[in-house]
Amino acid sequence: MRDLTVGYGQTPVLFDISLAVNRGEIVCLLGRNGVGKTTLLRSIIGLNQPTKGSISFGGQDITKAPTYKRARQGIAYIPQGREIIPYLSVLDNLKMGFAASGKKGNRIPSEIFDFFPMLSDHLSRQGGLLSGGQQQQLAIARGLMCNPQIMLLDEPTEGIQPSIVQEIEDTLKRINEEKGITVMVVEQKIEFARKLAQKFFIMEKGAIVERGSTEQLTNDLLHRYLAV
Ligand SMILES: Nc1ncnc2c1ncn2[C@@H]1O[C@H](COP(=O)(O)OP(=O)(O)OP(=O)(O)O)[C@@H](O)[C@H]1O
Ligand SMILES: [Mg+2]
Repeated sequence: MRDLTVGYGQTPVLFDISLAVNRGEIVCLLGRNGVGKTTLLRSIIGLNQPTKGSISFGGQDITKAPTYKRARQGIAYIPQGREIIPYLSVLDNLKMGFAASGKKGNRIPSEIFDFFPMLSDHLSRQGGLLSGGQQQQLAIARGLMCNPQIMLLDEPTEGIQPSIVQEIEDTLKRINEEKGITVMVVEQKIEFARKLAQKFFIMEKGAIVERGSTEQLTNDLLHRYLAV
């Protein structure tokens, strides 16, 4: 992403953001409420259009590509609040992933249940009846159905009990290691981000103000940019 400027209406929200994520990395994007983290992820998948700057993915300029094409090119977006369809079954929610990938298919690949064994016990249940943590796992699994090269996750641990947070951390690590999928995760839970990611970006007021490897994520930085 180079010099990306994005706004809502006339109001700019992201200012000249440049960042790079390497294939196979796990990176986290940190920052207080309202600094523009969600807008940044939405810009990568094409739900917000930049007024300036460019985005390239796998060597291709995707700045003007529609969202569905970005999904087919291998970008999966797991939105804040999960956005699973509450009245559809778990199975049908998973199948939405086929639609996003543009491929026809009817059988859920067994690896989905290997990464998320819980889902196989609840296939006929309405998505909305799952717990928050289970819905989050379903949302990640749905993203994985598109066979992505990169997964963008927006606060996957928000409002989720600690045991499931740990499970999600382990599963994302496995997905990254076993499938080589790049991961970009927006997080408020610092310990989760620290354990998972190799690289961090800190945002403030629509700009990236600090970046580095997670070993360089000092308490001083956390205090300055993240403490409320
Ligand atoms: N649909 C919208 N229309 C107008 N302004 C918006 C819209 N969505 C977000 N904003 C504004 O853009 C700014 C950045 O919002 P964004 O949701 O990207 O922040 P965030 O860092 O993800 O916040 P949070 O930590 O609360 O999820 C905020 O000032 C917000 O009020
Ligand atoms: Mg957000």
